[in-house]
Amino acid sequence: MYEGLINKYSKYLPVEDKSKIVTLNEGNTLFLKLKNLPKAIGLTNANVYVKFEGLNPTGSFKDRGMTMAVTKANEAGSKAVICASTGNTSASAAAYAAVAGMKAYVLIPDKKIALGKLAQAIIYGAEVIAIDGNFDDALNMVVELSKTQPVTLVNSINPWRLQGQKTGAFEICDALGRAPDYLMLPVGNAGNISAYWMGFKEYYANKEVTNLPKMTGFQAEGAAPIVENRVFPNPETIATAIRIGNPASWKLATAARDESNGTIDKVSDEEILEAQKLLAAEDGIFAEPASCASIAGLIKKVKEGKLEKDRQIDIACILTGNGLKDTSVVVNDNMEIQKFKPDLNELSKLFK
Ligand code: F0G
Repeated sequence: MYEGLINKYSKYLPVEDKSKIVTLNEGNTLFLKLKNLPKAIGLTNANVYVKFEGLNPTGSFKDRGMTMAVTKANEAGSKAVICASTGNTSASAAAYAAVAGMKAYVLIPDKKIALGKLAQAIIYGAEVIAIDGNFDDALNMVVELSKTQPVTLVNSINPWRLQGQKTGAFEICDALGRAPDYLMLPVGNAGNISAYWMGFKEYYANKEVTNLPKMTGFQAEGAAPIVENRVFPNPETIATAIRIGNPASWKLATAARDESNGTIDKVSDEEILEAQKLLAAEDGIFAEPASCASIAGLIKKVKEGKLEKDRQIDIACILTGNGLKDTSVVVNDNMEIQKFKPDLNELSKLFK
């Protein structure tokens, strides 16, 4: 039986006491070659794969890092964890803390996280604290609180988070038998791009693969500090998960970009929402807006002619979170849905 990524990749994730592992059997997520979207965007010489991290136990990639961070907190005898979050980290921290019998404190930007994520943190039993500020403000608060209070910080500044998250790279290499030519993913606080790069490099150093991908990150236009090389004091985007103006892993992310000969670019909210629709309508996958920055970025690269045209390439896009967490971007109160009487004659007209 599959028992989570710490067990699966124990060679790369040392733990002292197996009985202290805190897991929900995360990882081992769907890795799928897209059938229709590549054609729809005029891409003929690439295999486009998506890694649907929305199928993790709490619906996002955060579970990979959280199993490791909470396991280490458990090993150390910690009784509580704390994090700042745009929603997914708080959901994940709350769930893993629940399993471990710990308390979770989560600080979120008031009214700026998707309702599904807020519901998760509440139902898993976390102490939810909304602050009148953005994610960057909340992160500064929890860093200070974790220095003075008896709580373990589980944001990605905690190095165990990136250790767990690097397993996404292992799974992709295991599935393909090589590293993809491009790894495309959204960038917010910049931990994930850093973790994936670490994972690919470790697999390469251990001769599990003989190639490395170009790390290709995408930020939202209104929250693009790395792209523009300046802090965004008031970040804004519909992709609330990546509404971040001063990423904690900024330096690691630019190192991943530069060492891999990759790029970090930006996409607009319109491009993100179009990509989200296209992915769902063409290939049946519903990912949250931030995740679709990777697909929007792929479309942008194709339009700009930035990808190799003279050979077949493998592109892997990380879909970081599940679309069901944030349905308000699709369905809202002003939406007109056709209404019919429950009358077969009336309904039959639909098929003419
Ligand atoms: N995609 C989703 C769905 C996310 O929730 C996040 C980050 C990212 C992408 C960006 O990843 O921060 O490693 O660059 N969400 C954090 C949170 C900030 O609090 O849930 P990153």
